[in-house]
Amino acid sequence: MSLKDTATAVRENAHAPYSGFKVGAAIRAASGAIYGGCNVENVAYPEGTCAEAGAIAAMVAAGETRLTEAYVIAGSPMPVTPCGGCRQKLAEFGAGDARITMATTGGVEQVMTLDELLPGAFTTDHMEGS
Ligand code: THU
Repeated sequence: MSLKDTATAVRENAHAPYSGFKVGAAIRAASGAIYGGCNVENVAYPEGTCAEAGAIAAMVAAGETRLTEAYVIAGSPMPVTPCGGCRQKLAEFGAGDARITMATTGGVEQVMTLDELLPGAFTTDHMEGS
């Protein structure tokens, strides 16, 4: 399955009874394997997790720690960009030139790199010498 097909399929399983906003994500790891995730909300609202976080957790659980590409899809009028926390999570495992595609179920796609999504990302370089 492609990144798009994986993200689209896993989105169907999103647990989003509070926002009613289902999101699917898929990431390609360095091995080429694809991992999917969906948002999982909770009645205690802050405990919910984003689709990107789910896909990253699946990748790490499978023993991989590098991602080269990601695809995020939602049923919104315009492509949904990853939230701030998810940008930092993606940057933990992806290089600045990793391609992030944001899509709507209606077929609109927008592509940005991780660097464009999170300029000046906090990295281990910032902790050097501390
Ligand atoms: N959400 C994601 O899963 N990924 C994003 O990139 C944006 C927002 C989820 C979190 C919450 O379950 C719902 O969308 C509404 O914010």
